Amino acid sequence: MNAQPMPRLGRVYLVGAGPGDPDLLTVKALRLLQTVDVVVHDRLVGPGVLALIPPGVERVFAGKQRAHHHLRQPVLNDLLVERARAGQTVVRLKGGDPFVFGRGGEELEALLHAGVPFEIVPGITAALGAAAYVGVPLTHRDHSHALVLATGYGQDGPALHDWNALARAGQTLCLYMGLSGLARMRQELIAAGMAPTTPACAVENATLPQQRVVKATLRELPERASRLDPTSPVLVIIGDVVALQDRYAWFTTAGASTASPFAGAAPKAPAAVNKRTA
Ligand SMILES: C[S@@+](CC[C@H](N)C(=O)[O-])C[C@H]1O[C@@H](n2cnc3c(N)ncnc32)[C@H](O)[C@@H]1O
Repeated sequence: MNAQPMPRLGRVYLVGAGPGDPDLLTVKALRLLQTVDVVVHDRLVGPGVLALIPPGVERVFAGKQRAHHHLRQPVLNDLLVERARAGQTVVRLKGGDPFVFGRGGEELEALLHAGVPFEIVPGITAALGAAAYVGVPLTHRDHSHALVLATGYGQDGPALHDWNALARAGQTLCLYMGLSGLARMRQELIAAGMAPTTPACAVENATLPQQRVVKATLRELPERASRLDPTSPVLVIIGDVVALQDRYAWFTTAGASTASPFAGAAPKAPAAVNKRTA
C-alpha cells in the first residue's frame, strides 16, 4: 500500500488590520485577504475590513474581548498550526498591530514550535489611528518628546506600572484597555506628580464613522468618559498635546465630540503658523 503524500506545508501571515477604517489597511494586508485560503479574525476587526474578504475565502471568528475568548488561545494556536499543516495559507487578522497588545508573540511561539513558516504584516495601532483622526500630534517639538504606550489591564487584572515614569512631564501617554480602570490610573498618575489639569481625551471607535471623543482634564476624564460604551474599544490619550486638538480636529462624525475644556490652556501654536495667520 502506497503512503499518502504529505500535503505541502502552508504559511501563516500574522496581519494587522488597523484601528477600523478599512482605508487604513496596508496594501499587503489587502492583497493577502483576497488571496489566502482562510482568515482567522478577532472581534476588533470591524465589518468594513471583513467586507473586503471575498466569498471564496473561509472566515473563522476567534473572538477575544477582555477575558471573554471565543476560542481559547491554545485552541487558536492549534487551529493555525493544523490549517498550515493541511497546506492552507492563513491570515491571522488582528485589530491594530499584531505586536502592540495583540498577543502576536504568543501565536508566533506556537508556529515556531510546530515549524510552520510565517510572516508578520504590521498594522496601524489604535494610538496612531486615534491620534490622527482626533487631531493630536503625539510628539511635538515644543510640548512632547516621548510617547508611551501602556495598557490598563495586565494578565491578572489592573496593570502594574512604574507610575513615576508614566507621569513624567514632556511626554504623551496612550492607554490601551484603559477605560474600566481609568479612575485608579488617574489617582496613580496624580499621586506620582502629573498635573491634574493635564489635557486628556478618551476616543471610542477611533477612525470609524461612530468615533466619539470625550475631552477633559486628567482630573475629570474618568467621570466624563463613563458616558462611553464600555463594550466598544476606547483609547485614552493624556498630555499637553491633547489641547492642540482644538486646532487640528478634521474628522467629523455625527454628534461626536464634547466641547473643549482646554480654552486658554492650549499650548501655543508653532511660530511659523502664527506668522502665517497673523
Ligand atoms: C487587546 S488591545 C489590541 C490593540 C491592537 N493590537 C492595536 O495595536 O491597536 C485592545 C485595545 O486597543 C484599543 N483599541 C483598538 N482599536 C481601537 C479603536 N478603533 N478605537 C479606540 N481604541 C481602540 C482599545 O484600548 C482596546 O481596549
